[in-house]
Amino acid sequence: MEKSILQLQQEIDGFEILDAPQLEAFKLEFTVRKGKIAGLFAQLKTVDPADRPRIGQLLNALKLSGDTKVGEAEERLAQSAPASQPSIDLSLPGRRTFCGSEHPVQKVLGDMKRIFNAMGFSIATGPELELDEYNFDLLNFPPNHPARDMQDTFFITRGQSEGDVLLRTHTSPVQVRVMLDQKPPIRVICPGKVYRNEAISARSYCVFHQLEGLYIDKNVSFADLKATIYSFARQMFGTDVKLRFRPSFFPFTEPSAEVDVTCYLCGGKGCRVCKKSGWLEIMGCGMVHPNVMRNCGIDPEEWTGYAFGMGVDRTTLLRYKIDDIRLLFENDVRMLSQFSA
Ligand code: PHE
Repeated sequence: MEKSILQLQQEIDGFEILDAPQLEAFKLEFTVRKGKIAGLFAQLKTVDPADRPRIGQLLNALKLSGDTKVGEAEERLAQSAPASQPSIDLSLPGRRTFCGSEHPVQKVLGDMKRIFNAMGFSIATGPELELDEYNFDLLNFPPNHPARDMQDTFFITRGQSEGDVLLRTHTSPVQVRVMLDQKPPIRVICPGKVYRNEAISARSYCVFHQLEGLYIDKNVSFADLKATIYSFARQMFGTDVKLRFRPSFFPFTEPSAEVDVTCYLCGGKGCRVCKKSGWLEIMGCGMVHPNVMRNCGIDPEEWTGYAFGMGVDRTTLLRYKIDDIRLLFENDVRMLSQFSA
């Protein structure tokens, strides 16, 4: 009897249970009511009564080891993804796909482009890395003009034979390139990024967007410029908008003006944004300087033209009531996702 118990114990120990069918086979062979363990218990009554307590103890230990093996195997198989249960939970809510959105600056730029396109302006682009010649010289900047100073301009290389290379400080060099390339009449807008070496704050950043325009034809007058700007402003800021042209100075235009619109937050009454003045400056403009025309091979006796340039980012801040320009350039999705659809 003892030998049979020992032998069965070895069989139990040697039985490998790796999956559900093997577990089932183990139970059938050893632990069910008609299994081998129960079979040995049935023989207990044939054992000499003096030996029964000891043999009984051995049998109980055998039964326990069989049951323990079944318990452990069940636990192990339940953990390793039971094939009998569905692996997809059909009741889970679906995942929303994340959809990107147009950057607020691009939205405003898109509106500006559409308005000018409808007035017959086509789009011209140029490099952000420019030659000093295009960014300053040909635009009639005197050699000692303060805007060339290191304070404002990011120079890339200086003193090279082809001239200084810099990050363009405005999009006017694109207009120079167009004038050098094309014969008048010319009617283009030049949107793009520009760079200035300024202290970064809530109101100014080292990179921003401009949209400049150039129109050259016969007998173009300041009245044409005003009409164009006025039409643009009504479409961009609303039909109630009023304009104010203030005399100003740019090396590349003469006469020059800066344009203010009635503050479209307070309607001209005066608020924090317009600093109680009721007006917001939106652009610089003027008649193209004869020197610039000559520099670009266009005869100023035959042709006249106007140019204007505006900042896109400031308009974006005002339109969406954003109070810090740096938010436009940080690519923080928590900010950008508010502009989807
Ligand atoms: N280029 C000017 C600037 O960056 C803007 C401007 C363009 C002014 C055209 C007048 C005419 O400030």
